[in-house]
Amino acid sequence: MLMNRDFLKMKANNEKIVMVTAYDYPSAKQAEEAKTDMILVGDSLGMVVLGYNSTTEVTIDDMTHHAKAVRRGAPNTYMVVDMPFMSYYGSIDVSIENARNVFQKSNAQALKLEGASKEILELIRRLTDGGIPIVGHIGLTPQTHNVLGGYRLQGNDSDGSNELLKQAKSLEASGAQALVLECIPKELAKIITEALSIPVIGIGAGIDCDGQVLVYHDILQYGVNRLPKFVKTYADFNEVGVTGIKAYVSDVRNKSFPTEPYTYKIKNIDDLPKT
Ligand code: KIV
Repeated sequence: MLMNRDFLKMKANNEKIVMVTAYDYPSAKQAEEAKTDMILVGDSLGMVVLGYNSTTEVTIDDMTHHAKAVRRGAPNTYMVVDMPFMSYYGSIDVSIENARNVFQKSNAQALKLEGASKEILELIRRLTDGGIPIVGHIGLTPQTHNVLGGYRLQGNDSDGSNELLKQAKSLEASGAQALVLECIPKELAKIITEALSIPVIGIGAGIDCDGQVLVYHDILQYGVNRLPKFVKTYADFNEVGVTGIKAYVSDVRNKSFPTEPYTYKIKNIDDLPKT
Protein backbone atom coordinates (compact mmCIF):
# COMPACT_ATOMS: atom_id res chain seq x y z
CA MET A 1 0.00 0.00 0.00
CA LEU A 2 1.28 3.50 -0.86
CA MET A 3 1.68 5.72 2.20
CA ASN A 4 2.09 9.43 2.94
CA ARG A 5 5.82 9.44 2.18
CA ASP A 6 5.11 7.87 -1.25
CA PHE A 7 2.63 10.64 -2.06
CA LEU A 8 5.24 13.24 -1.11
CA LYS A 9 7.70 11.54 -3.47
CA MET A 10 5.08 11.47 -6.21
CA LYS A 11 4.58 15.21 -5.78
CA ALA A 12 8.34 15.81 -5.92
CA ASN A 13 8.62 13.65 -9.08
CA ASN A 14 5.60 15.29 -10.72
CA GLU A 15 3.78 11.93 -10.87
CA LYS A 16 0.01 12.35 -10.63
CA ILE A 17 -1.87 10.87 -7.68
CA VAL A 18 -5.18 9.24 -8.59
CA MET A 19 -8.00 9.10 -6.09
CA VAL A 20 -11.58 7.94 -6.56
CA THR A 21 -14.42 7.64 -4.11
CA ALA A 22 -15.86 4.28 -3.09
CA TYR A 23 -18.67 3.51 -0.70
CA ASP A 24 -19.09 -0.25 -0.57
CA TYR A 25 -17.38 -3.59 -1.15
CA PRO A 26 -17.81 -3.84 -4.96
CA SER A 27 -16.84 -0.23 -5.73
CA ALA A 28 -13.78 -0.59 -3.48
CA LYS A 29 -12.77 -3.84 -5.19
CA GLN A 30 -12.98 -2.12 -8.56
CA ALA A 31 -10.96 0.88 -7.36
CA GLU A 32 -8.24 -1.42 -6.01
CA GLU A 33 -8.23 -3.60 -9.13
CA ALA A 34 -7.93 -0.44 -11.26
CA LYS A 35 -4.85 0.48 -9.18
CA THR A 36 -5.98 3.87 -7.92
CA ASP A 37 -3.49 5.36 -5.47
CA MET A 38 -6.05 6.44 -2.86
CA ILE A 39 -9.70 5.79 -2.12
CA LEU A 40 -11.93 8.38 -0.52
CA VAL A 41 -14.95 7.19 1.39
CA GLY A 42 -16.65 10.51 0.80
CA ASP A 43 -19.69 11.78 2.62
CA SER A 44 -20.99 12.27 -0.94
CA LEU A 45 -22.30 8.77 -0.20
CA GLY A 46 -25.31 10.59 1.32
CA MET A 47 -26.26 11.83 -2.13
CA VAL A 48 -25.04 9.15 -4.53
CA VAL A 49 -25.76 6.04 -2.44
CA LEU A 50 -28.43 7.04 0.10
CA GLY A 51 -30.38 9.48 -2.09
CA TYR A 52 -30.26 12.49 0.25
CA ASN A 53 -30.35 16.02 -1.16
CA SER A 54 -27.03 16.97 0.42
CA THR A 55 -24.27 15.59 2.62
CA THR A 56 -25.65 17.23 5.75
CA GLU A 57 -27.81 14.23 6.69
CA VAL A 58 -24.86 11.82 6.79
CA THR A 59 -23.94 10.49 10.25
CA ILE A 60 -20.86 9.00 11.86
CA ASP A 61 -22.57 5.61 11.79
CA ASP A 62 -23.19 5.94 8.04
CA MET A 63 -19.51 6.77 7.44
CA THR A 64 -18.26 3.92 9.60
CA HIS A 65 -20.64 1.38 8.10
CA HIS A 66 -19.61 2.23 4.52
CA ALA A 67 -15.91 2.66 5.30
CA LYS A 68 -15.74 -0.81 6.83
CA ALA A 69 -17.20 -2.29 3.64
CA VAL A 70 -14.70 -0.32 1.53
CA ARG A 71 -11.83 -1.59 3.71
CA ARG A 72 -12.96 -5.18 3.09
CA GLY A 73 -13.10 -4.55 -0.67
CA ALA A 74 -9.78 -2.69 -0.87
CA PRO A 75 -7.50 -3.97 1.91
CA ASN A 76 -4.37 -2.76 0.09
CA THR A 77 -5.26 0.78 -0.94
CA TYR A 78 -4.70 3.96 1.10
CA MET A 79 -8.15 4.89 2.38
CA VAL A 80 -9.28 8.33 3.49
CA VAL A 81 -12.64 8.67 5.26
CA ASP A 82 -14.70 11.85 5.50
CA MET A 83 -15.80 13.10 8.89
CA PRO A 84 -19.48 14.01 8.39
CA PHE A 85 -21.34 17.27 8.93
CA MET A 86 -21.04 18.80 12.45
CA SER A 87 -19.13 15.81 13.83
CA TYR A 88 -16.00 17.97 14.25
CA TYR A 89 -17.58 21.22 15.33
CA GLY A 90 -18.04 22.58 18.87
CA SER A 91 -16.28 20.70 21.64
CA ILE A 92 -12.74 19.64 20.68
CA ASP A 93 -12.97 16.62 22.96
CA VAL A 94 -16.14 15.39 21.28
CA SER A 95 -14.58 16.01 17.85
CA ILE A 96 -11.49 14.00 18.82
CA GLU A 97 -13.65 11.20 20.16
CA ASN A 98 -15.70 11.16 16.92
CA ALA A 99 -12.52 11.06 14.84
CA ARG A 100 -11.04 8.27 16.95
CA ASN A 101 -14.23 6.29 16.57
CA VAL A 102 -14.34 6.55 12.74
CA PHE A 103 -10.59 6.04 12.33
CA GLN A 104 -10.36 2.96 14.54
CA LYS A 105 -13.55 1.28 13.37
CA SER A 106 -12.86 1.78 9.67
CA ASN A 107 -9.15 1.00 9.83
CA ALA A 108 -8.48 4.01 7.59
CA GLN A 109 -5.12 5.62 6.78
CA ALA A 110 -6.45 9.18 7.15
CA LEU A 111 -9.57 11.25 7.80
CA LYS A 112 -10.72 14.27 5.81
CA LEU A 113 -12.14 17.46 7.32
CA GLU A 114 -13.65 20.42 5.48
CA GLY A 115 -12.66 24.00 6.26
CA ALA A 116 -9.78 25.89 7.85
CA SER A 117 -11.23 27.79 10.79
CA LYS A 118 -9.06 28.40 13.86
CA GLU A 119 -10.89 25.52 15.60
CA ILE A 120 -10.31 23.13 12.71
CA LEU A 121 -6.61 24.01 12.54
CA GLU A 122 -6.31 23.29 16.27
CA LEU A 123 -8.21 20.02 15.84
CA ILE A 124 -5.87 18.98 13.01
CA ARG A 125 -2.86 19.65 15.28
CA ARG A 126 -4.35 17.54 18.06
CA LEU A 127 -5.40 14.66 15.81
CA THR A 128 -2.07 14.59 14.02
CA ASP A 129 -0.25 14.62 17.36
CA GLY A 130 -2.43 11.73 18.45
CA GLY A 131 -1.60 9.70 15.33
CA ILE A 132 -4.53 10.38 12.99
CA PRO A 133 -3.36 11.78 9.63
CA ILE A 134 -5.65 14.45 8.25
CA VAL A 135 -6.49 15.53 4.71
CA GLY A 136 -7.85 19.08 4.48
CA HIS A 137 -10.57 20.20 2.06
CA ILE A 138 -11.16 23.81 1.02
CA GLY A 139 -12.76 25.72 -1.86
CA LEU A 140 -16.27 24.43 -2.38
CA THR A 141 -16.93 22.58 0.86
CA PRO A 142 -20.25 20.74 0.33
CA GLN A 143 -21.03 20.44 4.06
CA THR A 144 -21.34 24.24 4.24
CA HIS A 145 -23.17 24.73 0.91
CA ASN A 146 -26.01 26.45 2.78
CA VAL A 147 -23.57 29.09 4.04
CA LEU A 148 -21.68 29.38 0.74
CA GLY A 149 -24.94 30.03 -1.12
CA GLY A 150 -24.95 26.80 -3.10
CA TYR A 151 -22.51 24.63 -5.02
CA ARG A 152 -20.52 27.28 -6.83
CA LEU A 153 -17.02 28.21 -7.92
CA GLN A 154 -14.92 29.56 -5.02
CA GLY A 155 -11.86 31.83 -4.94
CA ASN A 156 -12.89 33.67 -8.06
CA ASP A 157 -11.95 37.18 -6.90
CA SER A 158 -9.01 38.80 -5.17
CA ASP A 159 -10.31 38.40 -1.59
CA GLY A 160 -11.50 34.84 -2.19
CA SER A 161 -8.30 33.66 -3.88
CA ASN A 162 -6.04 35.25 -1.23
CA GLU A 163 -8.16 33.70 1.51
CA LEU A 164 -7.89 30.23 -0.03
CA LEU A 165 -4.10 30.49 -0.37
CA LYS A 166 -3.91 31.57 3.28
CA GLN A 167 -6.15 28.66 4.36
CA ALA A 168 -4.07 26.17 2.38
CA LYS A 169 -0.85 27.35 4.03
CA SER A 170 -2.42 27.23 7.50
CA LEU A 171 -3.68 23.69 6.92
CA GLU A 172 -0.20 22.58 5.92
CA ALA A 173 1.30 24.35 8.96
CA SER A 174 -1.22 22.60 11.23
CA GLY A 175 -0.03 19.21 10.07
CA ALA A 176 -2.48 18.26 7.28
CA GLN A 177 -0.93 15.46 5.20
CA ALA A 178 -2.68 16.40 1.97
CA LEU A 179 -5.24 18.88 0.73
CA VAL A 180 -8.32 18.59 -1.47
CA LEU A 181 -9.18 21.70 -3.50
CA GLU A 182 -12.71 21.67 -4.86
CA CYS A 183 -14.19 23.83 -7.59
CA ILE A 184 -11.75 26.73 -7.82
CA PRO A 185 -10.12 28.40 -10.84
CA LYS A 186 -7.25 26.38 -12.25
CA GLU A 187 -4.83 29.34 -12.03
CA LEU A 188 -5.40 29.58 -8.27
CA ALA A 189 -5.11 25.81 -7.85
CA LYS A 190 -1.70 25.93 -9.58
CA ILE A 191 -0.46 28.68 -7.23
CA ILE A 192 -1.66 26.75 -4.16
CA THR A 193 -0.20 23.48 -5.41
CA GLU A 194 3.18 25.09 -5.98
CA ALA A 195 3.10 26.92 -2.64
CA LEU A 196 2.62 23.75 -0.59
CA SER A 197 4.94 20.84 0.02
CA ILE A 198 2.06 18.44 0.80
CA PRO A 199 0.15 16.79 -2.07
CA VAL A 200 -2.80 18.78 -3.42
CA ILE A 201 -5.64 16.77 -4.91
CA GLY A 202 -8.04 18.66 -7.15
CA ILE A 203 -11.68 18.18 -8.05
CA GLY A 204 -12.81 20.86 -10.45
CA ALA A 205 -9.48 22.61 -9.87
CA GLY A 206 -7.70 22.04 -13.18
CA ILE A 207 -4.79 19.94 -14.33
CA ASP A 208 -1.95 21.43 -12.31
CA CYS A 209 -2.82 19.88 -8.95
CA ASP A 210 -0.66 16.96 -7.77
CA GLY A 211 -3.58 14.59 -8.20
CA GLN A 212 -7.25 14.30 -8.99
CA VAL A 213 -10.30 12.88 -7.25
CA LEU A 214 -13.73 12.20 -8.72
CA VAL A 215 -16.86 10.53 -7.43
CA TYR A 216 -17.28 6.87 -8.52
CA HIS A 217 -20.96 7.31 -9.41
CA ASP A 218 -20.16 10.39 -11.51
CA ILE A 219 -17.37 8.93 -13.64
CA LEU A 220 -19.36 5.75 -14.25
CA GLN A 221 -22.78 7.48 -14.61
CA TYR A 222 -24.33 5.24 -12.02
CA GLY A 223 -27.65 6.49 -10.63
CA VAL A 224 -26.75 10.12 -11.27
CA ASN A 225 -28.60 12.51 -13.56
CA ARG A 226 -26.96 15.95 -13.51
CA LEU A 227 -23.19 16.16 -13.43
CA PRO A 228 -20.97 19.16 -12.62
CA LYS A 229 -18.90 20.67 -15.46
CA PHE A 230 -15.69 19.22 -14.00
CA VAL A 231 -16.77 15.58 -14.31
CA LYS A 232 -15.60 13.52 -17.26
CA THR A 233 -17.54 10.26 -17.65
CA TYR A 234 -15.86 6.96 -18.51
CA ALA A 235 -18.78 4.50 -18.63
CA ASP A 236 -22.57 4.47 -18.59
CA PHE A 237 -23.74 2.17 -15.80
CA ASN A 238 -27.23 3.74 -15.98
CA GLU A 239 -27.62 2.49 -19.54
CA VAL A 240 -26.01 -0.92 -18.91
CA GLY A 241 -28.05 -1.46 -15.72
CA VAL A 242 -31.45 -0.49 -17.12
CA THR A 243 -30.84 -2.49 -20.32
CA GLY A 244 -29.91 -5.56 -18.25
CA ILE A 245 -32.89 -5.28 -15.89
CA LYS A 246 -35.26 -4.72 -18.84
CA ALA A 247 -34.00 -7.93 -20.47
CA TYR A 248 -34.58 -9.83 -17.19
CA VAL A 249 -38.10 -8.36 -16.83
CA SER A 250 -38.91 -9.41 -20.36
CA ASP A 251 -37.47 -12.94 -19.91
CA VAL A 252 -39.57 -13.54 -16.77
CA ARG A 253 -42.73 -12.16 -18.36
CA ASN A 254 -42.42 -14.22 -21.52
CA LYS A 255 -41.40 -17.33 -19.54
CA SER A 256 -37.94 -17.65 -21.04
CA PHE A 257 -36.29 -17.53 -17.57
CA PRO A 258 -35.52 -19.67 -15.63
CA THR A 259 -34.91 -22.36 -18.24
CA GLU A 260 -33.13 -25.73 -17.74
CA PRO A 261 -29.57 -24.46 -17.23
CA TYR A 262 -30.75 -22.33 -14.29
CA THR A 263 -32.89 -25.02 -12.61
CA TYR A 264 -32.29 -27.79 -10.03
CA LYS A 265 -33.86 -31.24 -10.51
CA ILE A 266 -34.57 -33.78 -7.82
CA LYS A 267 -32.37 -36.92 -7.94
CA ASN A 268 -35.20 -39.38 -7.44
CA ILE A 269 -38.68 -38.44 -8.59
CA ASP A 270 -40.23 -40.91 -6.07
CA ASP A 271 -38.91 -38.75 -3.20
CA LEU A 272 -41.42 -36.03 -4.01
CA PRO A 273 -44.42 -35.64 -1.69
CA LYS A 274 -47.70 -37.17 -2.94
CA THR A 275 -50.51 -34.61 -3.22
O1 KIV B 1 -17.44 13.46 -0.34
C1 KIV B 1 -16.75 13.51 -1.38
O2 KIV B 1 -16.93 12.73 -2.32
C2 KIV B 1 -15.69 14.51 -1.45
C3 KIV B 1 -15.02 14.70 -2.77
C4 KIV B 1 -15.95 15.39 -3.68
C5 KIV B 1 -13.72 15.37 -2.67
O3 KIV B 1 -15.40 15.15 -0.49
